[in-house]
Amino acid sequence: MKLSNELLAKLIDITSNSAIACYPYIGKNEKILADKAATDVMRNSLNKLDIKGEVVIGEGELDKAPMLYIGEKLGSGKGPMLDIAVDPVEGTNFVAKNLPGAMTVLAVANKGDLFSAPETYMEKIAFGKDLPKNIMDLDNTVEKNLKNFAEASNKYLDEITVCLLKRDRHIKIINELKKLKVNIKFITDGDVTGALLVSDKKYKVDIFMGVGGGPEGVIAAAALKSLKCNFKGRFIFKSNTDILRAKKMGIKDLNKKYEINEIIRGDSIFCATGITSGDLMGGITKETDKYFTETIFTHDKSILELVKKEVSIT
Ligand code: FBP
Repeated sequence: MKLSNELLAKLIDITSNSAIACYPYIGKNEKILADKAATDVMRNSLNKLDIKGEVVIGEGELDKAPMLYIGEKLGSGKGPMLDIAVDPVEGTNFVAKNLPGAMTVLAVANKGDLFSAPETYMEKIAFGKDLPKNIMDLDNTVEKNLKNFAEASNKYLDEITVCLLKRDRHIKIINELKKLKVNIKFITDGDVTGALLVSDKKYKVDIFMGVGGGPEGVIAAAALKSLKCNFKGRFIFKSNTDILRAKKMGIKDLNKKYEINEIIRGDSIFCATGITSGDLMGGITKETDKYFTETIFTHDKSILELVKKEVSIT
């Protein structure tokens, strides 16, 4: 079923208002309070919609209020049955330290169309449109992936930019990239944005790779699917608790490599409002009686659209 533009408009209002709720916490070193403020607004607003919604990507798998947890039912109980992925604050450190790139994120699809992912890490590769999906694989060496990408995109290795989280766990990848003389764009947090940077030449990122949050991987995939980009992911289950949780969620093959079509199917809406300014959109600004927000979204079209809103302070 096609998701309505009316729903899209409401979701944009919700991410806008959730981002605004974080505004007082920007630079206050209070990431939990910032997350709670955005979560409360997001939950209350989603509950006012005429939908039968269920959180499939959330911030926990049990009823641990104030988080929006996996399995939580949202909406009035009337209307379309929807799967909902929430990330009320993507980049909690960015909000706490007033750094660029914090945003409030929602992705929505028809019931059964969005993968329900446990809170564990995921190996990820994302790259742009108009390239065959099989040029890269999570089991290839970095060198093979990069050389395949270079050939398919008709670029020299030193013309390619790879974005990844600056983490010790990526040392091997980083050394490989340096050896290949590929350009590296490090991000300190916020790998939903990192992955989305492959969607348009203007961001000057060709490939996103590395290990980050699984829920963030699914959310990025939801946007990249509309944007006709490529995404591959494989969850990493380390502890017995992780493995049990995954099995409970119906994941049978723990080493499965997921293609984008297995993570998100059918029609979907992704929207994200900037809390602090970042590569994708501006952050919140405030005047005496108004807030100004910037939200990016994808629905029908394979581009990230930007909408600016003025919200009166009541
Ligand atoms: P939070 O906003 O929940 O703090 O997540 C930020 C983030 O950078 C994600 O974008 C990323 O997927 C994950 O944390 C990486 O986790 P870690 O910091 O443990 O490497």
